[in-house]
Amino acid sequence: MEALIKTEELTKAYPVRNGFWGKPDAVTAVNKISLALQKGRSLGLIGESGCGKSTFGRAVCGLEKIDGGTLWFGDKDVTNLSRDAFRPYRRNIQMVFQNSLAAFDPKYTIRQSIEEVLNNFEPLCEAERSARVERSFEQVGLEHRLLNRRPNELSSGERQRANIARALILNPQVVVCDEPLASLDYSRRKSILKLLQDIGREHDVTYLFITHDLSTIRYICSQIAVMYLGEIVEVMNVENVEGEMLHPYTQLLFQAVLIADPEKRGTVCREALDGAEPLFEHLAGCAFRNRCRFRSEICSACKPALQEITPGHFVACHRISPSNRAAGNRLINISGGKK
Ligand SMILES: Nc1ncnc2c1ncn2[C@@H]1O[C@H](COP(=O)(O)OP(=O)(O)OP(=O)(O)O)[C@@H](O)[C@H]1O
Ligand SMILES: [Mg+2]
Repeated sequence: MEALIKTEELTKAYPVRNGFWGKPDAVTAVNKISLALQKGRSLGLIGESGCGKSTFGRAVCGLEKIDGGTLWFGDKDVTNLSRDAFRPYRRNIQMVFQNSLAAFDPKYTIRQSIEEVLNNFEPLCEAERSARVERSFEQVGLEHRLLNRRPNELSSGERQRANIARALILNPQVVVCDEPLASLDYSRRKSILKLLQDIGREHDVTYLFITHDLSTIRYICSQIAVMYLGEIVEVMNVENVEGEMLHPYTQLLFQAVLIADPEKRGTVCREALDGAEPLFEHLAGCAFRNRCRFRSEICSACKPALQEITPGHFVACHRISPSNRAAGNRLINISGGKK
């Protein structure tokens, strides 16, 4: 199947300083991620806060300078293209940003912000430009009069729709949605989700859908990738997630979602994670090892590769291989104990 976008060992680190006098250091936000986004098979990217989801999304859109690895658009290596050379690809990969208020320049009206995107890629006469912007607003169910407002004069739901209109105005093949529902209440979430679903179908858009909210993924995506501390630990098909998931971290994430009471959910997760803090110095071994009840010597010694266990299902765990897939079945039960 044709991959619209592919990353090979994509790596991004940010320089950080520990305190004023501290030594300059680096945080590896994305660590050698290899993923493919197939045409028509939207991919959900999940994982806890700070694991690198937004960084990966921005890197895929060419908005972050990559420190290692390769980014492919179709069969073209676009990793080291200049800004100008990247432009034809950029118009086909748009982003709905995590924070819809910060995504718009407060000095401009929404109309000016959306027109700017058109001007950058498709200069049109004023009448045509205006008609295109208004059509994009109709597409996301917003009235034209809102176009003349500034971002802070819209409700969060309206602003998120405007954010989506701007991402879609160039008819991109790929849209990276970074927590598109995060700032919305339940009813607005549902309507934005439906909107993304409809647009995806009607306009042949493939999404990289970044979220904390597992329950939304199945409405939009065909595949899920689970990220932990900058790495992908599992990739699987959406249809059969409950039966398929094998990595201990994936199981914890999904089991936590099934617990309605947030307090109990937190306790179960902490117990199941052995109370350990995430391990940031993880480059040598498995990133999850200090929080995993099933760790053994090999987990500190070397990093597990992401192996294809069954067609389309990849897991990075030393316990699980194509020949002993059963080792991953129900590693942890819902009350946090081992089976
Ligand atoms: N500009 C930056 N400079 C330094 N560190 C950064 C920068 N942006 C992100 N980071 C760090 O990189 C890591 C990954 O951040 P990122 O925003 O990609 O996480 P995330 O998974 O999107 O989190 P969330 O779910 O909270 O949005 C974090 O440790 C974060 O502190
Ligand atoms: Mg983020």
